[in-house]
Amino acid sequence: MEVTVVGVGKMGSAFIKRTARLGHTVYAWNRTKEKLSGLPATPISSLSEARGLTAVFVADDEALLSIAGELKGDVVVLMGTYSIQGANSARRVLEAKGVPVMAAPVVGGPGNVERGDAIYLIGGSGAVYEKYAGFFAEVGKAVYLGDFEKAVVLKLAYNSLLIGAISVLGEAISLASAYGIAPSVFKELLQQTVFKDIATAYVDRMLSNEPGTFALKHAGKDVRYATAAALGKSGTMVLSAVRALYELLELWGFGDAYYIKAGILETRR
Ligand SMILES: NC(=O)c1ccc[n+]([C@@H]2O[C@H](COP(=O)([O-])OP(=O)(O)OC[C@H]3O[C@@H](n4cnc5c(N)ncnc54)[C@H](OP(=O)(O)O)[C@@H]3O)[C@@H](O)[C@H]2O)c1
Repeated sequence: MEVTVVGVGKMGSAFIKRTARLGHTVYAWNRTKEKLSGLPATPISSLSEARGLTAVFVADDEALLSIAGELKGDVVVLMGTYSIQGANSARRVLEAKGVPVMAAPVVGGPGNVERGDAIYLIGGSGAVYEKYAGFFAEVGKAVYLGDFEKAVVLKLAYNSLLIGAISVLGEAISLASAYGIAPSVFKELLQQTVFKDIATAYVDRMLSNEPGTFALKHAGKDVRYATAAALGKSGTMVLSAVRALYELLELWGFGDAYYIKAGILETRR
């Protein structure tokens, strides 16, 4: 099958590697052309050359809406994390040109995408999904939700939980440290509780200098989109606090830090 990947950051480049390894013919477009070299995809210089299944991984609503009018393909699949409003606006622009649109935001990072164990939350027309169900089943784990907006919102709800939980974990580690309790002691306690998996996956990485796979500025954008989706419909108090933390951290210049450090960065300023 022909696949065009639009936006070759961490997620887009991982998706290129996955689809190329599965034997698909992959094309790629990126705003910064230098990033296209070395990837197993044929660079295209204009979005009008996009073809087949066009997978969009650009960073945010602003990026999505700046390119939506030029996107082409048999189907355009929105795989980045966008707001309800942003995703719907892009969808309207594309459908007005007769291009079918699906949402398929991803649960999992670039490593999961490349390994094929990322989860794709898919929404949009059942008839269009049927046509590409085999493709989604081979690139990762596909969850078809029917409605386009449900896929967008489920991703925002999932990221709210992930980003909020890890922020609080960081603050809790900081609190214990402030009273002379080593993170290893805290981790050992958590490993005997319902937080076992979270402690094992995140405590050491949060305190290490490993390069991030998901930027704090992108996680902050997800919390903003989730708060906007919740406004007037569901609770927003905790989300608003997490949003405020992320806004402060970005203001303090931590936008490119690894998001899992959010809860410990305030005290490191
Ligand atoms: N990383 C993760 O673990 C993860 C997991 C799930 C979902 N996501 C979501 O996936 C999307 C991509 O994330 P990422 O981690 O791959 O981000 P990234 O590495 O920062 O890459 C961002 C991409 O967006 C492009 N871009 C940014 N602004 C643009 C604009 N105004 N016009 C055109 N292109 C623009 C960048 O192009 P340039 O190279 O020209 O800057 C780059 O290709 C985001 O929505 C993110 O929330 C990420």
